[in-house]
Amino acid sequence: MIPRRRIAFEGADFVDALRALWTPPARAAAQVAAFEAAFAAQVGVPHAIATASGRDAMGLILDALALAPGDELVIPAYTLGELVPLITARGIVPVPADIDPATCNATPASVAARLSPRTRAILVVHLLGAPCDIAAIAALAAERGVALVEDCAHALGARVDGRPVGGFGDAALFSLEATKAVAAFGGGVVTTADAALAARIRQALTPRERREWPAVKKMLVKLAEELLVRSPAYGAAARLLFSERGAGAFDRLYRRANDRVRPKAAAFSGFQARVASRKLARVEARNARLNAEWDDFARRLPPRFAVQQRCASGEPAFYNFVAQFDGDIAALRRAAQRAGLDLGIRGEVMDDTAALLAWADCPGAAYAHRRAVLIPFYDGLPRRRRERMLAVLDRLARELP
Ligand SMILES: Cc1ncc(COP(=O)(O)O)c(C=O)c1O
Repeated sequence: MIPRRRIAFEGADFVDALRALWTPPARAAAQVAAFEAAFAAQVGVPHAIATASGRDAMGLILDALALAPGDELVIPAYTLGELVPLITARGIVPVPADIDPATCNATPASVAARLSPRTRAILVVHLLGAPCDIAAIAALAAERGVALVEDCAHALGARVDGRPVGGFGDAALFSLEATKAVAAFGGGVVTTADAALAARIRQALTPRERREWPAVKKMLVKLAEELLVRSPAYGAAARLLFSERGAGAFDRLYRRANDRVRPKAAAFSGFQARVASRKLARVEARNARLNAEWDDFARRLPPRFAVQQRCASGEPAFYNFVAQFDGDIAALRRAAQRAGLDLGIRGEVMDDTAALLAWADCPGAAYAHRRAVLIPFYDGLPRRRRERMLAVLDRLARELP
């Protein structure tokens, strides 16, 4: 079975984990500071602040922007659903802006349509590494006098007109989760050009204790998961767990289990800083290589798979390969499984946040949510496996309704 995703481990990760156990706290703090400086340079902004996760980064930004209960925040109608409770828990009202299903991103027009006198900020995402039309949305935010936050969880290294994403708004958030380009076994980063905002976030982080063990533990959990994925039992487990009936329950269980090992309000550790610094130094080369492989694969997929248009307004970063299939998705997943190809489960790609918030007027998000499939594509996927996938998908596109 070709699994839907793999996590890259390196020997150096394990050496770092061992070193972490005897790193003095002052040294760990210096390693985190060095990582933050390198990250700020990568994004081209003066401030980068490492956090416990991308979600944590978003919460810190919302607090530092001093959004008050009742204020409206425009959000993408197709993104990670778990961001919604972070917003509503603060009494902020999320208002979904529809997406263009071709790019999977909100557009300047869909965002403008949601602005009201109560709007205080706009949150946009560069979904799956494809930059949204951020320059036009930034102009809109400036014209209306509202804050702009970029969700760059998938998009480290993406550019618009040669400028890295993450520097167009008041602040941006990045994720360093295990499947991201710069994976530090959890973690996130806030970037901003606003010194006062950066100072408020640093102040909020001051009471947090820096401990090395939680991220090392998370690495071990991810390693166990990876060993399961690579074992011969994975095919049978996938058929059992990812059936149309079992998938919902499995997805909820998996998200809950992951949440338990997620350090929620911990300080970024020296171990994470070392792992992330190494990967950050290679992120440009990684993106260039995987973008080229992505383009080649996308060109050769049968036309029934509508591949995300990633270059509409810039240069993408590589995250996942998602396509919208024009036929019966459940039948496609079942047939792909029988042919040894794990196309994941629906809950996994992204969520229809408009539907979660009971807005019924975002057809773009509803369409993308209904049609999207995750096609296995990651660093280290051998060429022969890509060729096998193409052959299977080609056959299924001809056979399936
Ligand atoms: C679009 C988007 N934003 C934010 C996040 C949050 O990142 P984290 O998992 O590090 O909390 C994710 C997670 O994958 C995401 O997909």
